[in-house]
Amino acid sequence: MSIERAAAALRAGDLVVFPTETVYGLGADAANSLAIARIYQAKGRPRFNPLITHISNLDEALKHAVLHEKAIALAETFWPGPLTLVATRHRDSTVAELACAGLSTVALRAPSHPLARALIAAFGGPVAAPSANRSGRVSPTTIGHAREELGDAAALLIDGDPCEHGLESTIVAVNAAGEATLLRPGAITRAAIETVTGGLAVPVPGSVEAPGMLASHYAPRARLRLNAEAPRGGEAYLAFGAEAPVGGLSLSLTGDLVEAAANLYAHLRALDAAGAETIAVAPIPSHGLGEAIDDRLARAAAPR
Ligand code: TXA
Ligand code: MG
Repeated sequence: MSIERAAAALRAGDLVVFPTETVYGLGADAANSLAIARIYQAKGRPRFNPLITHISNLDEALKHAVLHEKAIALAETFWPGPLTLVATRHRDSTVAELACAGLSTVALRAPSHPLARALIAAFGGPVAAPSANRSGRVSPTTIGHAREELGDAAALLIDGDPCEHGLESTIVAVNAAGEATLLRPGAITRAAIETVTGGLAVPVPGSVEAPGMLASHYAPRARLRLNAEAPRGGEAYLAFGAEAPVGGLSLSLTGDLVEAAANLYAHLRALDAAGAETIAVAPIPSHGLGEAIDDRLARAAAPR
């Protein structure tokens, strides 16, 4: 049946459009950074915005996030349903760093839609999925609209009825001190959230629209030198489209931007951990996913 085929597609690293009670999602294996890179490519996002990871229940969520008791109370009240919780990523989480856009937090949601639940159960792991629209366009609430937006990018589309809510999930961040912040209003009202949390902090302006600016974003300890055609003495080299000299790494030997995006965080981290003082980074073409890679590199290179 189609749910089994869709789960197999996710296992193969392909993308699947599926219905949720809020809007249609474009799903991928959350643990597979190459599949996550394909999502960013399909959506045409100029930046790596963090994605929501879909899980089946609170027990699964606890494998991926460190949840304060207030977050647990929210999950117990509103899951399965249109609530997304943002919390510190668990150190043993299998969710790819690219899905979290390098943040130290992870966004988790247990949807209530039976087809979404069946897909997550059949796949047996976390499913990362943004709304199934191209960047800057409205979220699709019917299978026809989702097909129009991203039908070409998906290996398979799961056909469902028009979405019950037609509005994205409410996103609430709960930090280690138990402070809850409404990051995105959505299908569950602020008042309903407040009955559980008691109150809600006001988000820092711009922090949600531009999560790439958040201080908690992964930044290497090493300095970065961008657009470097070759390393200078003592520098570690992050190559693109070619092999790196000894001590360096290549984002993609063949110059594939999807592969480069998938390798970006892991390679920066590895060169950093090896003790490089400066990482020289090869020029990255600015088309397609290159724009998001360049944006991320420029942030990592900025003075701190
Ligand atoms: O209803 C929904 O939530 C739908 C369905 C498919 O589940 N998904 C959805 O995903 O709306 P998307 O990618 O269109 O929106 C995800 C939002 C973005 O605004 C992103 O910045 C925020 O979640 N987000 C994800 N992880 C975050 C994090 N760690 N910290 C702050 N914001 C985060
Ligand atoms: Mg969206």
